[in-house]
Amino acid sequence: MSGEEYAIPSQPLPVSSRSPGKCIIFGEHAVVHGAPELAFAVDLHTQVLARSAPGFSLNADPHAAEEHPYFRTALARRWVGGTPLEVRSTSRIPQGAGLGSSASFCSALVAVLGAAQGGVDRPALAQASYDVEKAAQGVGSPGDTSTVAAGGYITINGAGGDHLWTIRGSERDWEVRRVADPGWVWVVAHSGIPRATGDAVRNVTQRLAQPDGPELLAEFARVATAGIRAVAGGDRVAVAELMARNQELLRTVGVSHPRLEALLEAAAPAAEGAKLTGAGAGGSIVVLPKPGQEVDLVRRLARAGGLPFVVRPSPVGTTLVGEPEL
Ligand code: MEV
Repeated sequence: MSGEEYAIPSQPLPVSSRSPGKCIIFGEHAVVHGAPELAFAVDLHTQVLARSAPGFSLNADPHAAEEHPYFRTALARRWVGGTPLEVRSTSRIPQGAGLGSSASFCSALVAVLGAAQGGVDRPALAQASYDVEKAAQGVGSPGDTSTVAAGGYITINGAGGDHLWTIRGSERDWEVRRVADPGWVWVVAHSGIPRATGDAVRNVTQRLAQPDGPELLAEFARVATAGIRAVAGGDRVAVAELMARNQELLRTVGVSHPRLEALLEAAAPAAEGAKLTGAGAGGSIVVLPKPGQEVDLVRRLARAGGLPFVVRPSPVGTTLVGEPEL
């Protein structure tokens, strides 16, 4: 295959890329243990620019190549013996909000490094972005990195839909499939409580090791499977009910938070469905607004102390951008 045929084509430095964030609708945490997940790429983006320089730096920080976990890991795995790079990154994705800021950064960075080394196809981009994020974070599934790499709606280990790729992990593999976009608008609200994905994943893993863990995991899988079917079929009533059931399960495994519960309560009059999204224990909620009530919903969430965003799926995943802009 020549570089021109790759989704991320060959391009000499300087190279600039762009990657969306992600929003999980069903199945966070359970996906780490092999259950299905549904997510979409959010139209909030990270941009990364890499160019040759006398020494390595990230946003002018010369220590980042040793200290920034994702930057250090990406260089160690994807730029072996490579010449020094100045990397700049800007993002509209709030950090620690459960909206995929680290996956977006990893995928955008892996894309520029891949482009500078002859190009990379999308399945390989998704695998490499997962490998970097997992190595830097210690735990986790490829859900976030595959969502941002693919764009649009995707399922991990969900039935139906076109198969995009398989992600290989140390303990299991995950199947990534495309789901048709139902054309809905979503509202996300950040609680302002930062959270650490790694800690939340480790806590849930311990919780699922208790005697009722297998039954809980099976219920997560049932809800996500039905949720994927409901989104694919455009059935908002079923989606709303399944979001509520998914939220109950997330409460049971200990990753809700009083601030998230307060936002869910504030959203209720203008919401069809709502739940936390991402790792929880802080971070954000995602809401399916009642049609025409998006503005009212945003006001309610802001009054309750949240930082609301109206979000739409980004149909395009990680991509190079023609002109370096940073
Ligand atoms: C975090 O965005 C989603 C989790 O399921 C962790 C993961 O899948 O890596 C909590």
